[in-house]
Amino acid sequence: MAKEVKTIGVLTSGGDAPGMNAAIRSVVRTAINKGLKVKGIMRGYAGLLQEEIVDMNGSSVADIIHRGGTILYTARCMEFMTPEGQELGAKVCKKHGIDGIVVIGGDGSFRGAGKLSALGINTIGIPGTIDLDIACTDYTIGFDTAVNTAMDAIDKVRDTSTSHERCSIIEVMGRHAGYIALWCGIANGAEDILLPERYDGNEQVLINRIIENRKRGKKHHIIINAEGIGHSTSMAKRIEAATGIETRATILGYMQRGGAPTCKDRVYASIMGAKAVELLCSGKSNRLVAYRDGDFVDFDIQEALNMRKDIPEDQFQISKLLVR
Ligand code: ADP
Ligand code: F6P
Repeated sequence: MAKEVKTIGVLTSGGDAPGMNAAIRSVVRTAINKGLKVKGIMRGYAGLLQEEIVDMNGSSVADIIHRGGTILYTARCMEFMTPEGQELGAKVCKKHGIDGIVVIGGDGSFRGAGKLSALGINTIGIPGTIDLDIACTDYTIGFDTAVNTAMDAIDKVRDTSTSHERCSIIEVMGRHAGYIALWCGIANGAEDILLPERYDGNEQVLINRIIENRKRGKKHHIIINAEGIGHSTSMAKRIEAATGIETRATILGYMQRGGAPTCKDRVYASIMGAKAVELLCSGKSNRLVAYRDGDFVDFDIQEALNMRKDIPEDQFQISKLLVR
């Protein structure tokens, strides 16, 4: 028989992402509408272990749907990686009467969520990361805002790059995943896109293309480089030396993680928040909310963590075909 859930906790963990607040708001208000109590756990698993737990009501999440960041703050917590830390986490939940938790975060956070589930705390994950690198879902909270922020910034760099007839290397986030780089590459019409999943380090190919394009009269050459490849500044120096064309590097950095969430991030995060609470109410645990093939669905956390995701080859090819 499904365990009855009376009090739920909600936390954000790992890197923040615009739209996390919309998800928190949805979790809190959906739960309250269903007659549950809600507790906000501050600073992810670190706050759980430190018992930084606050009562939340409908008003606690007023005026946040349009805000980036997370009102619950976020953190990384080494102690929670240990069995002792996880047991303490489950004990704290029991002490505070929390019988279900919604964890908004990325892969690492879901590993932690799986551990809490195994210790008897019903746990549901919501994918929140700008990297879009969670295999079971076509959507993660924050990606849409991050790529739009990066796209706007790259448009601006492109203007000055054209005026000065320069080559520009623009570094976007994505330590292991190239989705932001790929989408910006397509959206900004970049001449080259360097993805951690694809780039073989052959700079000569880039250099040859820059020289060829300049001979054909191109006024700029935009290279989108993913954080995982990095070294944009030294790359720019080498390219300038080899081509004789002024080359500048711009590292967009953390601006991509902030700012008001887009409409899509607000709406999808709201739907996912509500779905997470519904799963808890129906006695489910160890599940991850996902958006796949046009539907909001859920997966077993371990099954989801074992799934692999790669850059869609057709999208990568299209990005190349569309630049001249
Ligand atoms: P993200 O959730 O964005 O992938 P991290 O990988 O940094 O971010 O994970 C966030 C937190 O989740 C970690 O600081 C840790 O507290 C917890 N976590 C990560 N991996 C595990 C694990 N294998 N077991 C338990 N907790 C984990
Ligand atoms: O969440 C986006 C991201 O840039 C990842 O690609 C990267 O691994 C991580 O954030 C770095 O975050 P932090 O500097 O906060 O550890």
